[in-house]
Amino acid sequence: MFEIKNLKYKDILEIEHIIINKNSVTSIVGESGSGKTTLLKMLNNIISPDEGEIYYDEKELNQYDPIDLRRRVVMLPQTPVIYKGSILDNILIGKRFSKSENYNIEEIKVLLEKFNVNKNLNEPAENLSGGEKQRICLIRILIMNPEVILLDEPTSALDENTEDLVVNYVVEYVKKNNKTLIMVTHSKEIAKKYSDYIIEIKGDDLFEWSC
Ligand SMILES: Nc1ncnc2c1ncn2[C@@H]1O[C@H](COP(=O)(O)OP(=O)(O)OP(=O)(O)O)[C@@H](O)[C@H]1O
Ligand SMILES: [Mg+2]
Repeated sequence: MFEIKNLKYKDILEIEHIIINKNSVTSIVGESGSGKTTLLKMLNNIISPDEGEIYYDEKELNQYDPIDLRRRVVMLPQTPVIYKGSILDNILIGKRFSKSENYNIEEIKVLLEKFNVNKNLNEPAENLSGGEKQRICLIRILIMNPEVILLDEPTSALDENTEDLVVNYVVEYVKKNNKTLIMVTHSKEIAKKYSDYIIEIKGDDLFEWSC
């Protein structure tokens, strides 16, 4: 699904060759500042490599219309982006972007419940806690129904139990619906428990192994 060849980006990333398979769960781990977010942004074509190529479905990323690509490959940024308005408005905003306005309110309520967010959909989103905002942004992305979900530390503000239940649900959802998940996580335990592959960025080197 994704293939990276001979990539170089500033003095931040150097990747000879990586393949990320369709319908798999891949975690990206590494120290703070090692380039995890940079790598994720490259897969979403937010930044381009200085050298080398990235392919998505056998076509180079820069050959895609960026809007079309970002409907198929959706990225959750490291810091949740919350807009003025209700929780529901905030959840639906991604769907507007993906031009499919129809939604199932029951599905959204189930997701809120699964993710342990005990709030009414009409409440303003700006008063939510950091961890609640994180989960709202995650729901926003799930209901967009993308092919690939890129998550940048989606559970960094959550306690261990909530983190586990959220990741567990997302991984199950991905497997059940034949999606592809690539997530940056600070937790090696989470990476080991849920991933098919782990990419570890360590200094100038990059290791990949299957779990
Ligand atoms: N546009 C840029 N220009 C120059 N340096 C950058 C740019 N973006 C990021 N960096 C640097 O690249 C390195 C990797 O940044 P990145 O955000 O990818 O790290 P990270 O692994 O996601 O870290 P964290 O775990 O703290 O989120 C950092 O040293 C950062 O300062
Ligand atoms: Mg980061």
